[in-house]
Amino acid sequence: MEQQKRYGHFDDQHREYVITDPQTPWPWINYLGNEDFFSLISNTAGGYSFYKDAKFRRITRYRYNNVPMDNGGRYFYIKDGDTVWNPGWKPCKTPLDFYECRHGMSYTRVTGRKNGVEASVLFFVPLKKWAEVQKLTLTNQSNEVKNLKLFSFEEWCLWNAATDMENFQRNFSTGEVEIEGSTIYHKTEYRERRNHYAFYHVNTPIQGFDTDRETFVGLYNEFADPQVVIEGKPRNSHAHGWSPIASHYIEVTLQPGESKDFVFLLGYIENEQDKKFSAPQVINKDKAHALIAELDTTQKVDQAFAELCQYWDALLNIYNVRTGNDKLDRMVNIWNQYQCMVTFNFSRSASFFESGIGRGMGFRDSNQDLVGFVHQIPSRARQRIIDIASTQFPDGGCYHQYQPLTKRGNNDIGGGFNDDPCWLIFGTVAYIKETGDFSILDEMVPFDNQPGSEVTLFEHLKISMDHVINNLGPHMLPLIGRADWNDCLNLNCFSWDPNESFQTTENVSEGTKAESLMIAGLFVVTGKDYVALCQKLGKTQEAERMQKAIDAMIEAVKKHGWDGEWYLRAYDFYGNKIGSNECDEAKIFIESQGWCTMAEIGAQEGMVAKSLDSCKKYLECEHGMVLNNPAFTKYIYEYGEISSYPEGYKENAGIFCHNNPWVIIGECLAGRGNDAWSHYAKILPSYVEEKYQTLHKVEPYVNCQMVAGKDAFKPGEGKNSWLTGTAAWMWYTVSEFILGIKPDYDGIRIDPCLPETATDYTVQRKFRDAEYEITIHPNGAQKGVKTITLDGQPVDGTVIPYSAGKHVVEVTM
Ligand code: BGC
Repeated sequence: MEQQKRYGHFDDQHREYVITDPQTPWPWINYLGNEDFFSLISNTAGGYSFYKDAKFRRITRYRYNNVPMDNGGRYFYIKDGDTVWNPGWKPCKTPLDFYECRHGMSYTRVTGRKNGVEASVLFFVPLKKWAEVQKLTLTNQSNEVKNLKLFSFEEWCLWNAATDMENFQRNFSTGEVEIEGSTIYHKTEYRERRNHYAFYHVNTPIQGFDTDRETFVGLYNEFADPQVVIEGKPRNSHAHGWSPIASHYIEVTLQPGESKDFVFLLGYIENEQDKKFSAPQVINKDKAHALIAELDTTQKVDQAFAELCQYWDALLNIYNVRTGNDKLDRMVNIWNQYQCMVTFNFSRSASFFESGIGRGMGFRDSNQDLVGFVHQIPSRARQRIIDIASTQFPDGGCYHQYQPLTKRGNNDIGGGFNDDPCWLIFGTVAYIKETGDFSILDEMVPFDNQPGSEVTLFEHLKISMDHVINNLGPHMLPLIGRADWNDCLNLNCFSWDPNESFQTTENVSEGTKAESLMIAGLFVVTGKDYVALCQKLGKTQEAERMQKAIDAMIEAVKKHGWDGEWYLRAYDFYGNKIGSNECDEAKIFIESQGWCTMAEIGAQEGMVAKSLDSCKKYLECEHGMVLNNPAFTKYIYEYGEISSYPEGYKENAGIFCHNNPWVIIGECLAGRGNDAWSHYAKILPSYVEEKYQTLHKVEPYVNCQMVAGKDAFKPGEGKNSWLTGTAAWMWYTVSEFILGIKPDYDGIRIDPCLPETATDYTVQRKFRDAEYEITIHPNGAQKGVKTITLDGQPVDGTVIPYSAGKHVVEVTM
């Protein structure tokens, strides 16, 4: 194997990933903000900010898929004599004497050094504030006095990120700004219906500014050589239309050894309708002044940063493991949990692969994200469940996506994805098990957000199960509808028109024949959870009714869903098998293996073990398990988008990391710890980081949605990092099934499944009002708990009963 270049390393003590070369194989990004105000930031300070919704409230402009890549961001230009440079290397790309980017928990620190000057910028969004802080520290490390010219730069987006990119006949005439002291206000469209504006402030007097892009950059220049910076002189331009920007100009003198801080603040304000203006055409700045006053000194900013760090300390102290294996510990304790927070916040809306204008929050996606997040901030998870359920219809179906700002279902994509309803049970059960809060089931939740239509959340769960039962096909298996978890298996969509979307309302039919084995397995898994919940609630009849439906589904799978060595994937529109040995290509698919083994369907008949073995034989490769095998080599009209991808990419035999954990959990339930671990380690970022930084390309500290599979041109190359259900599934898998600490209604169930090589480990777990220190002695066993003691007393079974306070638990296997 070629020696892979390294671009950075983990710093576990500070919970940071340290990037030491700005020319990473792809922008390596981080997220700032945890609620309401968010920013994306690359290792060269590229990216953008928005309030709540990356489509409807985009604050700063960003150019996706541009040349050069990662174009636009918050840039500081430092002019030292004739040399102009940026602390993050870009956009000037002046060679630096030192460069470092530290991505941490909701903050990023970028440091550059050039000719004896160090510029270090700390970027973060303070808790509960609608603003991004950029604390720039300039230090003169030379022996001479430095006279520097400092220019800041942000480019405003005209709020709606979609029309911002297309409606230029309007956009070039609407832009408006105001300038007051050291603050530049962006108020486009505020004169009419908008009640919000943004501002960019610095906590020092400025010697000039610019707010018109072409004046600052120059029509024939670039971000790399803005004419104002090259000339070293601001023009105090006032934008009227065209493209408003914000740039401060500051003259800085530094004695040898001297250091100065500058606090830049990018803020967002909303005003009440009757308080929009302080004078005709003048925006009411009271709230902006107040926000600025809270963050206008180094001391205040340092305090806000300390609070953010404490916030993360507390979050990451809820589940903490010490195994002695750094690569595992850092993923479990830091990065996997961090990624879960980010996916919970953004679903699949805004990353460097998701433009922020396409998708809002996914019904299935957000429910799955919950299992990675619910232990962190249960109250936010609770609200999310209600929001999601509010987009359901009375028959149990639902909108596939909704917009975070309005919380309304997204009409462009509609509904009809028949796996969607089951996920509501998955998310809700995870919430109740974590919190013990059954009261959520009594919450009154509307259909399609229509006031007056409210029923209890429990009723929503019931109709979710019923939606599957009411939509069975000829083999008594679930009808797939528009698609199941695999958005690209479009069995009721027949398209020869490249202008049609495979997944939207152009589907010719919802179909009466195409059935999904993935939904069958999902129905059994979530159905068992539903039955247990009903029993817990004393709803015996409902439990019995559903148990019958589950039993029938299990029989249907055994009878019509087994191919001999693995589970079928589906039946198509005409009732032909998909994912069968009889097929020419794509004989086996991962989704149905995952879900039917998790459901343990046919375990006694040997189906589970055979299916898991087939995954190893046909799907596994060096970088993980591919989605299907062999890959499709041609477009299949009856299958839709899945066959539109080249071999080895995305849903056509890519390693779609999201679904690998399903098989891993199947392995864990079957007690095959060695196999579970080997599948897990293959897609664990810290293992990939060590070996494949160049090949993998995307951020080595988080999972990506897809790694090119064995049939691809470049197996092992990653894509679509950050926003993927992989985060929550990796967490769920390792925390509950591998390390075996599983929240349950009455306590914590302990049931690890480990490789034989595992040694003793300790998990510190906060759970409701209790804190458990659980030490597991595997003794070479892969599965099977022999004894448990709680505070020295033996426990019957595998559930430690919940009681508040601190407890010590010893487990031998
Ligand atoms: C979507 C998921 C979907 C998966 C597989 C992702 O991009 O967000 O909802 O399950 O692709 O198609």
